[in-house]
Amino acid sequence: MHFGHFDDEQREYVITQPDTPLPWINYLGSEAYFGIISNTAGGYSFYQDARLRRLTRYRYNGVPYDAGGRYLYLRDDRDGIFWSPTWQPTQTDLDSYECRHGLGYTTISSSYAGIEASTCYFVPVGENLEVWDVKVTNRRPEAAGLSLFSCIEFALWEANDDATNFQRNFNIAEIEVVDGVIYHKTEYRERRDHFAFFGCSEELAGFDTQRRFFLGQYRGWDRPVVVEQGEATNSMAIGWAPLGSHHVKLALEPGETKRIIFVLGYQENPRDAKFDPPDTQTINKESVLPIIARQLDPAEVDRQFAELGEYWDRVLGVLHVDTPDVHTNRMVNIWNAYQNMITFNLSRSASLFESGVGRGMGFRDSNQDLLGFVHLIPDRARERLVDLAATQLETGGAYHQYQPLTKRGNDAVGSGFNDDPLWLVLAVAAYLKETGDWSLLDEMVPYDNVPGSEAPMEEHLQRSMGYTLDRLGPHGLPLIGHADWNDCLNLNTFSDEPGESFQTTQSRDGTVAESVFIAGMFVLAAQEMGPITERRGDADKAAEYREAGERMVQAIDDHGWDGDWFLRAYDAHGDKVGSSSCVEGQTFVEPQGMCGMAGVGLDDGRLARAMQVVNERLATEHGIVLHQPAFTHYYLNLGEITTYPPGYKENAGVFAHTNPWIMICETMLGNGDLAHDYYLRINPSAREDISEIHRSEPYVYAQMIAGKDAQTPGEAKNSWLTGTAAWNYVAITQWILGIRAEHDGLRLRPVVPSGWDGFTATRVFRGVAFDITVRRTGPGNEVALQVDGEPLDGDLVPVPSDRDRVRVEVALG
Ligand code: BGC
Ligand code: NOJ
Repeated sequence: MHFGHFDDEQREYVITQPDTPLPWINYLGSEAYFGIISNTAGGYSFYQDARLRRLTRYRYNGVPYDAGGRYLYLRDDRDGIFWSPTWQPTQTDLDSYECRHGLGYTTISSSYAGIEASTCYFVPVGENLEVWDVKVTNRRPEAAGLSLFSCIEFALWEANDDATNFQRNFNIAEIEVVDGVIYHKTEYRERRDHFAFFGCSEELAGFDTQRRFFLGQYRGWDRPVVVEQGEATNSMAIGWAPLGSHHVKLALEPGETKRIIFVLGYQENPRDAKFDPPDTQTINKESVLPIIARQLDPAEVDRQFAELGEYWDRVLGVLHVDTPDVHTNRMVNIWNAYQNMITFNLSRSASLFESGVGRGMGFRDSNQDLLGFVHLIPDRARERLVDLAATQLETGGAYHQYQPLTKRGNDAVGSGFNDDPLWLVLAVAAYLKETGDWSLLDEMVPYDNVPGSEAPMEEHLQRSMGYTLDRLGPHGLPLIGHADWNDCLNLNTFSDEPGESFQTTQSRDGTVAESVFIAGMFVLAAQEMGPITERRGDADKAAEYREAGERMVQAIDDHGWDGDWFLRAYDAHGDKVGSSSCVEGQTFVEPQGMCGMAGVGLDDGRLARAMQVVNERLATEHGIVLHQPAFTHYYLNLGEITTYPPGYKENAGVFAHTNPWIMICETMLGNGDLAHDYYLRINPSAREDISEIHRSEPYVYAQMIAGKDAQTPGEAKNSWLTGTAAWNYVAITQWILGIRAEHDGLRLRPVVPSGWDGFTATRVFRGVAFDITVRRTGPGNEVALQVDGEPLDGDLVPVPSDRDRVRVEVALG
């Protein structure tokens, strides 16, 4: 069942029914000011940090689910009938409804009782504000007299405090309204140097800023008394709950369209110039007034909207593919790349599943996300790497998370997730291969942000590697710490206290439990570090990494192979996890994927055997589940993984993040059909037909799809902010389509379905556009290349220094 359709030409998903199974969201903003927006205008906005600088309020877990947003109300002043042109919050049965989620904007259009309304919400590039561009058209045969009300609820900046600290917060709100602009300035009188503003292009009939006057006591957003009565009260909020609502009267002749622009934004003033006159409490508006005036000019809105489109043309223009499969094309060219950029901007902070008050930027998460956007925005990727490395500890360990506004490590979660540091190595390697910018390794970066502790980035990588080698367990495999990639495999926790954090509690000394996953990852990281140090001229170090990698492979061979698949771990008693000797949780996907990608068992048939087991035991029509059999009860020695009911999340859900690792392994084994088959099983576009089962957005990946043991197999949760985005993009573009950045050029090694007769692609790599044509000449995966008509030995195309375009023909067979 469908709730909309793709419009690939416009790069939009078009939702045609407002009551989607879950709110289907999009993001606004690309640099500092961001917002979430649902298909019915729910959502909220913030500046840089969803927790610390929240502009508007949202009610998570509210009823209905999607409460708090950028609301509009239209009222027919003749008979008092009113409705929301974005469906929420009045939920009026509209005559037509359409929401177009595009790249950085959302347009919601509807008609009701002969009145059409269309609102385009977007954040102009480089601005700390959002524009609501509203067009109202009268399709009636007679003139219409309407009232339009806007409404947002201001959050008192710190979102967690805003949601909890009512004894103070009901007393602190402050507002100014000048020339139709509503200014939210709570705490501006003291230590905040910032305020929010909400302006409107039209002359106002009135306004409201105090929630209870707008809504009326005991009413909800669906029935504000001001809208019902058609008259704003000009309320001025001091204390309680400040909101912003403009009241505009519209007189429309038949066929007439009126355009009304709203602008909601964030502005800072210098500390010594906050007030005007200086000895008052009135906001100094000198810097903000020209911004507001400019933003309310329709020509400027049009120009900025076009500029937003050009911004996305540039970003997404780096890789464009044309394959026989529509789902591949659509995801690679548009949605998967866009989702990668959203994970760059938001990490795991703000979605409908991430509250914006919990997690900051994950160390592991952000490094992995980089794999999906490094080619799109290399300069910003470089900055991200430096920020991440600056939160690394002198031990080589890493804070698990950091706050984007302060860029400081988060003490509450701390460190000790022993895979974390190795992700920095993989991310930096990806950056070097993409850009050839080796100066990054000389960049001086502090540890734990402590001034004076700066060391070259290369040393950070060395300490990352050292961190693993300094922490080997009884079998010579890496100690797991709090957890590895699977945050819920908590082998040192042993928690029997309700509510205790599985992630931070540690009641075993951590010297026994080992991770085969980290072992595989170390081998992969050593394969990157060898060539990197070699190129830096340190042959001895390069040899050390090679040997360390070989020793780790040996440890995996000796103690990490269970006979038919890779073992998952050893627990704190030294007992096996993920072994045929276990009753539940016998086979785990993660070590198969990670050891496989590192090439362990590739030459001796073990990887092929492990992949066969994955196919037989873990693969389902909805993707590959994390393990089997699912855990049916709580195991003290395994931790959070066994807290979830079977089939959900880490307890045998399809943790979609891991699936591309298996796709990559299948390409390494030459199985393009199966790799692409796995790809399609979790590809959101390919699942659009089962939207009533999948339930999450059909245009972006979700972290988890319920597994076969679940009550609701196939149901996706935690959409948008997930490493699934980057890894699927890596699997399809670099391994299945086989277009891979290497230190010495662009490698072309497609392992595509046997039924494909070829595909074309354009990839901009180090300033050169590679126009790639792949043609199938036989059933295999061997390639023969021609570059600008000249045959080339091997599959690695060097970057020409004398041209900015090359033509590469690949014969595949
Ligand atoms: C989730 C994990 C997540 C972890 C850390 C767990 O409850 O299942 O996916 O990484 O929390 O926040
Ligand atoms: C979500 C986390 O963000 C990610 O880093 C982790 O690897 C998965 N959970 C699996 O537990």
